[in-house]
Amino acid sequence: MMKHIFQKGTDQTKPTLLLLHGTGGTEQDLIPLASKIDPEANILSVRGNILENGMPRYFKRLAEGVFDEADLIFRTKELNEFLDEAAENYQFDRHHIIAVGYSNGANIAASLLFHYKNPLKGAILHHPMVPRRGISLPNLSGINVFIAAGTNDPICPAEESEELRQLLENAGANVKLHWENQGHQLTLNEVEAARNWYQQL
Ligand code: MLT
Repeated sequence: MMKHIFQKGTDQTKPTLLLLHGTGGTEQDLIPLASKIDPEANILSVRGNILENGMPRYFKRLAEGVFDEADLIFRTKELNEFLDEAAENYQFDRHHIIAVGYSNGANIAASLLFHYKNPLKGAILHHPMVPRRGISLPNLSGINVFIAAGTNDPICPAEESEELRQLLENAGANVKLHWENQGHQLTLNEVEAARNWYQQL
């Protein structure tokens, strides 16, 4: 079970937007962002199950940017299973989920794509990292991914955003990598770029 908010959308042909906050955030944080992306879609906003010094996250880390791989794998499975349950409870299409994640939330969304076949129909990843290296990815053909990255992001260097794009593309995903001349922050500009991308899906 994961603490979450579900808001039923007005148009059930739309995807369900899965909102995943950054470290220290909550399931409330990205709700305003979802209404910018698609005000008619269902919203499933989930709080991370880990606490790091009181700050919610989706998986443990050993240091800044160094992930606890065993926990990442465990928590990715937990989230994937939670999506199965939520789709059943709230009666939405399990195969029509688009994740919208920021930072730690973008990392667990990327991890879903790295570990499972068709866990998501697409993903908007704001400032993600490469969640794991040295594994072969499932076939991601038909999956659309938007990555927003900052040229001066101290947490995710520019080469890592390129590396993530490459890994996803090599597995068959359609990837759009959007750059901001900014750091790790989530900017209004990149949210607008994400919305334009989403509208063309
Ligand atoms: C992470 O731990 O997922 C990344 O370092 C991003 C963050 O949450 O700071």
